[in-house]
Amino acid sequence: MIFAANFKTNHTRKSTKKYIETLLTKIIAKKEGDKVYIFPPATALDQFCGDVILGAQNAYMAQNGAFTGEIGLEQLEEFEIKTILIGHSERREILGESQTFIAEKFAYFQSHGFEIVYCIGEPLEVRQQGQHSVVEYLLSQFEGIDTSYEKLIVAYEPIWAIGTGRSATLEEIGNTHEALKKTLQKPLLYGGSVKPENSKEIIAIRGVDGLLVGSASLDAENFAKMITD
Ligand code: PGA
Repeated sequence: MIFAANFKTNHTRKSTKKYIETLLTKIIAKKEGDKVYIFPPATALDQFCGDVILGAQNAYMAQNGAFTGEIGLEQLEEFEIKTILIGHSERREILGESQTFIAEKFAYFQSHGFEIVYCIGEPLEVRQQGQHSVVEYLLSQFEGIDTSYEKLIVAYEPIWAIGTGRSATLEEIGNTHEALKKTLQKPLLYGGSVKPENSKEIIAIRGVDGLLVGSASLDAENFAKMITD
């Protein structure tokens, strides 16, 4: 199983360090083969020893240059970061990243051998149109993306379930993962209001290879619970 924590714009450099120290003491009990990823804010990127992989929530597709407000490859290389989150709905919706832009970013980090956690997810109005529309919508989010990339991990995160406290139902997750797995032979995570109270039943669903957790991952003990329970 893969357990990934997306801190978004939460935690500082100092609190991230403390978080990782706490987490490492707790996840000694994790199952062999399980992998733990942390995506802290850019200011907290660093090198840590231990059984967690640190990834970037975002970066610009350049070594360095005039891209105000962005970090590039050079800033990631400083900490040997080789994992990146691409296509998160907050970047698509709030920051206005288009599918073309996302695909370019994906290609850039692919060419640099990054492990990519690529996020897809439908808005509520698409979910309300039924499963067929959901799958069609999700597949359109692979436009320009090399789904055969060996270091690709996909995260299915219905937008209406992110940060709302309302996770998709087990049936919705199961059906969607099953449909995606027909065209996608890659690890497939679920994200959207995952918490210790529902994580166990979600990872038990066929076709779910792990979790991408936002709010409920902000507390190290909480996140550790989802990993070790
Ligand atoms: P959430 O966020 O767990 O707070 O719903 C998940 C995500 O956006 O990755």
